[in-house]
Amino acid sequence: MGFTIAKNISWIGKIDWELRKFHGEEYSTHHGSSYNSYLVQDEKLALIDTVWGKFSGEFVARLQKETPLEAIDYVIINHAESDHSGALPELMRHIPNTPIYCTASGVNIIKGHYHQDWNFQVVKTGDTLSLGSKELIFIEAKMLHWPDSMMSYLTGDNILFSNDAFGQHIASELMYNDLVDQGELFQEAIKYYANILTPFSALVDKKIKEVLALNVPVDMICPSHGIMWRKDPLQIVTKYVQWASNYAENQITVVYDSMWDGTRRMAEAIAQGIAKADQTVTIKLFNIARSDKNDVITEIFRSKAILIGSPTINNGILSSVAAILEEIKGLKFKNKKAAAFGCYGWSGEAVKMISQRLTESGFELLHEGIREKWNPNNESVDNCIRFGSDFALNVKNA
Ligand code: FEO
Repeated sequence: MGFTIAKNISWIGKIDWELRKFHGEEYSTHHGSSYNSYLVQDEKLALIDTVWGKFSGEFVARLQKETPLEAIDYVIINHAESDHSGALPELMRHIPNTPIYCTASGVNIIKGHYHQDWNFQVVKTGDTLSLGSKELIFIEAKMLHWPDSMMSYLTGDNILFSNDAFGQHIASELMYNDLVDQGELFQEAIKYYANILTPFSALVDKKIKEVLALNVPVDMICPSHGIMWRKDPLQIVTKYVQWASNYAENQITVVYDSMWDGTRRMAEAIAQGIAKADQTVTIKLFNIARSDKNDVITEIFRSKAILIGSPTINNGILSSVAAILEEIKGLKFKNKKAAAFGCYGWSGEAVKMISQRLTESGFELLHEGIREKWNPNNESVDNCIRFGSDFALNVKNA
């Protein structure tokens, strides 16, 4: 059965307790997730979003316990990615003529996924759909995070169905932000932002200002993943504004990989140097080959500066370091400082290559980097400590 979130409004989604990877193998979901779908009953009955296709059978069966499918007047698809539109083929098999409200880009994407010509009704920002005593107002949110993304605002109950925005990958029967562990909630929310929305921060800022300018009351924000925001719902909007504004905490993150522990010893000596120069800064070290890349990306998002290290191998860098640099490049972080380090035996190109990659990715390089030959001796360790201190002071004074 559905879960009542307000009079005549039910959550009808799927809690996915066992999900550990999302977007294929790209995104770790330590706490599972949910695909939130909502049923709004007024004089007309509207279904907002569906669930991932693999759950379409149980979704439609659950929906049928709530209402005869023929009673659904409107299907709203805020976003056509498979985790929200995936149950459409099964649903529309039963109600093929029911109109689907989505953006123009949504029509293309849904057709591209399911190759069906359903009864699409294109909407844009400001368009409304009357449900009787209440109405849905549509707000396009292009590139947040797909070209088709939009939000739907329900008057009367003052609910913003925000789709991916403000969501988190959390499975919980508790459903609401005031009932769940706050540390877990905000960790998953910032991880979601860092890994998915960072490249679109300028658009996030603009969209939030646009929504706030509507000056409509918001009693609840119901995203398409995880927990619904009912207690002080705008707190997550405030967080998004902060995260969208070149966010950085007082943190330096050191990311490296190592073959025979030389680059690891350099990383630890650099961290020692940072701590010596700045007793207030949080320092975190990650061997990227042994760490969850999405968690590391979240730490980089939190950082004002990063150091990336790799030994030189085959005139290049270790594949784990290359992979995280590729991730970093795509996320287009802004206003962060950086430098590179690494051990080498003969050719020793790694530091130069990492530095170049960091510059191309928009980081401000504070130093040409440091490399040590073979296994670091005491003198090399001292060099790294000095380097760490210099780096920390430059970050502090930048
Ligand atoms: Fe949750 Fe962009 O889909």
